[in-house]
Amino acid sequence: MISGIGIDIIEVARVQRLGSKSPRFLERVFTTREIAYCSKKKNEYQHFAARFAAKEAFFKALGKRIPWKDVELVNLPSGKPTLKVRAKRRWPFGRAHVSVSHLTEYALAVVLLEK
Ligand SMILES: CC(C)(COP(=O)(O)OP(=O)(O)OC[C@H]1O[C@@H](n2cnc3c(N)ncnc32)[C@H](O)[C@@H]1OP(=O)(O)O)[C@@H](O)C(=O)NCCC(=O)NCCS
Repeated sequence: MISGIGIDIIEVARVQRLGSKSPRFLERVFTTREIAYCSKKKNEYQHFAARFAAKEAFFKALGKRIPWKDVELVNLPSGKPTLKVRAKRRWPFGRAHVSVSHLTEYALAVVLLEK
């Protein structure tokens, strides 16, 4: 049974502005693993923005904000994204599904939670 759905779209330039103004923004929002993944990409802020959108979409699906780094987007070897949620047992869902997409200007994410 589906327990929640969330979607988010964000301007890549907004994340880029915040990230280039303050590296602390990146450290506050993204895990070390997320930073490592995005930093080695050509258009790194598209990937950061996609992760930002995924976290926001997760909050919408959950119906609650949790600390940014308690939800992490991790790519499987195939490239398929997955969500890792810290202290997951505290939250009323069993499985999380995520999909992200990004272009030069926008990144978006959809999250579906199963009971
Ligand atoms: C995976 C694929 C569909 C991405 O499409 P795209 O138009 O190039 O790029 P988008 O911006 O829409 O999506 C990029 C995101 O797709 C996700 N992605 C990558 N591989 C994926 C996969 N195998 N399955 C699902 N999602 C995937 C990633 O989250 C990626 O963003 P990230 O690197 O920041 O995490 C494309 O690279 C592709 O067709 N790859 C080869 C075939 C394949 O593996 N298809 C899987 C779906 S059938």
